[in-house]
Amino acid sequence: MQMDTSFLSASASTDADVAIVIDVLRASSVMVAALAAGARRVITTREVDDARDLAEEYTSDRDLTPLLCGERQCTRIEGFDLGNSPASYTASRVKNRDLILTTTNGTQAIAAAASAKEVWIGCFLNLSAIARSLPADSNVDLICAGTNGSITMEDVLFAGAVLSICDQRFELELNDESIIARQLWRSSFGRETMPSPEELSEVLKRSQGGRNLVRVGYESDIGLCANVDAYCLIPKRVHEEPAVFAVE
Ligand code: MLT
Repeated sequence: MQMDTSFLSASASTDADVAIVIDVLRASSVMVAALAAGARRVITTREVDDARDLAEEYTSDRDLTPLLCGERQCTRIEGFDLGNSPASYTASRVKNRDLILTTTNGTQAIAAAASAKEVWIGCFLNLSAIARSLPADSNVDLICAGTNGSITMEDVLFAGAVLSICDQRFELELNDESIIARQLWRSSFGRETMPSPEELSEVLKRSQGGRNLVRVGYESDIGLCANVDAYCLIPKRVHEEPAVFAVE
């Protein structure tokens, strides 16, 4: 099984069987939390204006208007219904609704994965679901979103966690970024077993994405995103242009 990691989505060019898009803090975590809370679909766009245009298109032929969701500089976009905090994606807010999501890095990474045969969304909330669902003999790309063009530890750490679990199940061929990611995961907690959410949260806080969230007052979101295996679901791309995600 070939598993290649890209630390930055801009450097990813994928024809993989499965591309796993990783933006632990927080776009991937928001997508998993939203679908777990009963959202029907998450429609993703790179640009804020495209999100607004899509909202108009989807509104004209449905009873329930889609919710506009996402952030710029970690903060809810003016006029949008929801920001990028998993805590806001409650069943009372999102159940049976379509969401249109645009974020600074996460939805850009989704666009970078467009040419993969399948696109899945991964984060610590669905770590085991991801690692245990990958089919043997597939080519897998782990695409880290990074932050504003820089590598971020939280995404590389998650890639390493997936690789470590897959290592126990398959014979792996890894590129160098995968070897580095797996090593980071193995050395981060001083032991092989899964960290507690509290331990993981402490490590995530030290990452670039973590520091950004602490700076703007969203520290509690880091704890939510560190809730390993809170959900057993995988957002999978069900439509390509725009990229739409649902749980099958
Ligand atoms: C992103 O896509 O850039 C992040 O999810 C940023 C954030 O959580 O605010």
